[in-house]
Amino acid sequence: MVAGGRGQDIFIASDGLPALSVAGHSREKQFQLRSIADIFARAMKGKWDDGIYYVDLFSGPGKCILRDSGEEIAGSPLVASEMPFDHFYLADSNSVFLDALKGRLSGAGLPEDNFHFYVGEADDVVGDILMDLPPARSSLGFAFLDPWAWDFSFRSLERLTQGRRMDVLVNFNIGDLKRDWLHPLHRLDSFLNLPCGHRDFFGFDDGGEVSVRMLLDHYESQLRGIGYHHVADDIPVTNSKNTPLYHIIFGSKNPLGKRLRDAVSKRTASGQFKMGLEFD
Ligand SMILES: C[S@@+](CC[C@H](N)C(=O)[O-])C[C@H]1O[C@@H](n2cnc3c(N)ncnc32)[C@H](O)[C@@H]1O
Repeated sequence: MVAGGRGQDIFIASDGLPALSVAGHSREKQFQLRSIADIFARAMKGKWDDGIYYVDLFSGPGKCILRDSGEEIAGSPLVASEMPFDHFYLADSNSVFLDALKGRLSGAGLPEDNFHFYVGEADDVVGDILMDLPPARSSLGFAFLDPWAWDFSFRSLERLTQGRRMDVLVNFNIGDLKRDWLHPLHRLDSFLNLPCGHRDFFGFDDGGEVSVRMLLDHYESQLRGIGYHHVADDIPVTNSKNTPLYHIIFGSKNPLGKRLRDAVSKRTASGQFKMGLEFD
């Protein structure tokens, strides 16, 4: 294990390159990405003059090691690289992770010209990515946003997707919410696109409890405000005690996007069908 900056520990995987150490529930997140992005890419391939593209602003190194078992699983950009996207725009604030990712992708023998890499905070790299994306009118995108917690402002999401057909899959992390809710936290307020502090906005300075449903509804109303009228959040990822840790929010500007997502999203990584929802 080596120190990776910003408090992260970096583990070395069996291929000799750095990997993320993650809990077992990450498998479910990768499974949902694999299912939804894959049906998107296969359904849309060849239908756009300038192709279909994948954006991942929190790429990580491309490999994760499950903390409990030591098993190695592909990280989101490696999962997506197996799909028929024409272009990939991959970013992470950690240059060690991004170098590892480049190494893994070139080792897989994929066409290098299709991959674009950006080191930096997600909010900061959006401008560079926008300069590289194919023309908005003749291309279709899919973005995966997988921050640890709240590390992407809603304004940046709006900027990234404005005038574009780009479905989004957002990891809405609620594992630390109860703790984060207690204090002023600018990045939480920016993520939710609030005009003031979260406790003021939701009227909780009288000691009220935060409700996950309320926050999801708020976030989704913001998504609708920028054209994402077809939204779903019925994928709570839980820990071994069945406590919800995050919701994977899907958004599309087109009803077909949601129909495709609904067709594949009801299974879990373990092959079971989801039966219902639990909210705080
Ligand atoms: C949850 S992990 C992503 C895991 C990855 N999507 C996967 O499936 O393997 C979050 C990643 O975001 C990076 N990160 C943290 N803060 C960031 C920020 N503000 N902007 C961009 N990347 C950030 C971390 O270095 C880490 O690799």
